[in-house]
Amino acid sequence: MFNNNNNNRIKTFTNIPTPFYFYDLDILDKTLDCIQRESGKHGYHVHYAIKANANTRIMEKIQSYGLGADCVSGNEILRSLETGYPAKKIVYAGVGKSDREIQIALDANIFCFNCESIPEIELINELASARNKMAKIAIRINPNVNANTHHYITTGIEENKFGINRWEFDDILETLKQCKHIELIGFHFHIGSQITDLSVFKGLCLRINEIQNWFEERQILVNHINVGGGFGVDYNEPDSNPIPDFETFFGIFKEFLQIRHNQSLHFELGRSIVAQCGSLISKVLYVKKGVNTKFAILDAGMTELLRPALYQAYHKIENLSSTGAPENYDVVGPICESSDCFGKSIRLPRTQRNDLIALRSTGAYGEAMASRYNLREIANSVFSDDLA
Ligand code: LLP
Repeated sequence: MFNNNNNNRIKTFTNIPTPFYFYDLDILDKTLDCIQRESGKHGYHVHYAIKANANTRIMEKIQSYGLGADCVSGNEILRSLETGYPAKKIVYAGVGKSDREIQIALDANIFCFNCESIPEIELINELASARNKMAKIAIRINPNVNANTHHYITTGIEENKFGINRWEFDDILETLKQCKHIELIGFHFHIGSQITDLSVFKGLCLRINEIQNWFEERQILVNHINVGGGFGVDYNEPDSNPIPDFETFFGIFKEFLQIRHNQSLHFELGRSIVAQCGSLISKVLYVKKGVNTKFAILDAGMTELLRPALYQAYHKIENLSSTGAPENYDVVGPICESSDCFGKSIRLPRTQRNDLIALRSTGAYGEAMASRYNLREIANSVFSDDLA
């Protein structure tokens, strides 16, 4: 448990105004060491999906391990450049790239646009032509592979808005012939997030092999394949599994993806890099009796951590202050929404006002999705080395 091996840390926590995000840099370092070692074995390129957590210190640390950046907005590109990611390691996806955002990417000379529609390719061509530049693109292909994850975070089946479907391939080839300022350099895929059934990635590899055959038959060869991200983490047991099994993950691609003529293979990992290093630390404001349950009302809510309200996601909840006899609590936030609930009937040691509560595995899509709903303040972030 978070509190057993961190007693001194918890004492320090009591002096910090709650709620705040706490980042354990030791876990982040170990995760990055593992990614560097396991991807390095096969010569794979990893881009950090900065949407998962764009905190400057987190981004800088990840950059220091040589990872590139995967961006989905002009501002993410600018933040990546500011935090030291070289333009030649930046990829840029998104179904709705605005003119301004495309211009930012063109001016920065990023590695690759991951393009999601024909009109988008035409616009990039037009803006590149105005600058007398060649824009390097990959087409984001919707492989129609079901990621078996929450329907809000599945992206690779035909009915999703993402990517280009197989029945559009002929039109794409026609468009590319017309667009003289576009250079096709890759194929991009991303089928969803929090994928824990690894056979899904095997299915993706087999589908990519078929798709590459189709293009090869038409003499279209690209120099890289980007398989996106989506590798899931263990939200139930963060202490038993703090580092995802990257050896097995990369090994699947090594085994099943047919890489042609020196193609490079790229990944865009977000959650699997940062989820386990973060915890949202909160205080109990009140314990209140309900009809069937007791409510533990925290000073953190869906404004700090939206995932439970939006995806019915579970984050392990721990009381860091109490060792009392266990009881059941509905753990809720202070926001005026019934969905502002972190868990129902959660077994916690007897809980009272001012107890510190940790919501675990919140390094990915936690701070990044915070809002100021109810005019709340944005929570601070605290790093393990601040407390040393
Ligand atoms: N590449 C693309 C094109 C993506 O859209 C995403 C995530 C990633 C890479 C990184 O995926 P990851 O390795 O983190 O699974 N807010 C949701 C997750 C949304 C994911 C959006 N796209 C959540 O909290 O579960």
